[in-house]
Amino acid sequence: MIIIDSPKVMRDWSLQQRAKGTRVGCVPTMGALHDGHLSLVKASVESCDATILTLFVNPAQFAPHEDFDQYPRTFESDCAKCKAAGVDVIYAPKASSMYPEHYATYVEVERLQEGLCGIMRPNFFRGVATVVTKLFNATLPDKAFFGLKDRQQFTVIKRMARDLDMGIDVVGLPTVREADGLAMSSRNQYLSVEERTRALCISKALFVAEAAMAQGETSAKTILHAVKTTLAKDVDEIDYVSLVDGNEMTPVTTINGPVMLAVAVQLGNTRLIDNIRFEPNIPASVKPAREGSLSC
Ligand code: PAJ
Repeated sequence: MIIIDSPKVMRDWSLQQRAKGTRVGCVPTMGALHDGHLSLVKASVESCDATILTLFVNPAQFAPHEDFDQYPRTFESDCAKCKAAGVDVIYAPKASSMYPEHYATYVEVERLQEGLCGIMRPNFFRGVATVVTKLFNATLPDKAFFGLKDRQQFTVIKRMARDLDMGIDVVGLPTVREADGLAMSSRNQYLSVEERTRALCISKALFVAEAAMAQGETSAKTILHAVKTTLAKDVDEIDYVSLVDGNEMTPVTTINGPVMLAVAVQLGNTRLIDNIRFEPNIPASVKPAREGSLSC
């Protein structure tokens, strides 16, 4: 395994791989790796000839009041995990080479970036789309792997890759959870023992709603009310609870196609997000056409 920190060196390595016909997989991360990240690495190692894990805590996606300085940086243990998982290259660029003086270019994905997390974090998806474009330009992957724990992020990146003709297969993989249901996240380590116990209500509320939808509940109002009531008992603040179209991320009032139920909450100073996707059982003859592999 090699470690590269320069965009030019990374691109030269990737160009050599392409010339040899090597199929390259890319797993973009901000480090503090856990089993959720490693599930993406596993998928890449299994389906590509070479895997690049990018490790960069991206200042452009943090607002000034957010946790950029505090974000866990565990480079040594991340390297050990990558090596054990079969990563070929860690690409860990410096902020100064990613955003040199007078940096001026950003990528925006209209509409998809605006709702849900985009409301409380207005520049977040512009920061994500920009850095992922730059990481793709350096690593030139055939495939890139993202977690559906951040389903809006996945949807934004998938659309960006399609709209900008990047020719990259953007793959979404299921959320990896702790044994008790909490979605794994690098930010879980901010939680106190007491907050960690309260955080369980997030997945619990989503799973109860999922069961209600599976039993035929189609009213968004009823589902959202039930989820908010469950969360309100244990979290400090609810940023949003939303039921949106599974592909376009626009709010729905009645479930008659694939939907995402998404929540963002605050526990102490920690903001956590989670979601589930639900698809009602509609007979094939009346099912609307869906967009390729966007639905995972
Ligand atoms: P980060 O939070 O480090 O996540 C890196 C990747 O791991 C993302 O695709 C995320 O969805 C996935 N991931 C995180 N927790 C997961 C879980 N429990 N199960 C499955 N996958 C999980 O997301 C980012 O970094 C950044 O925004 C990035 C895309 C790297 C751009 O800076």
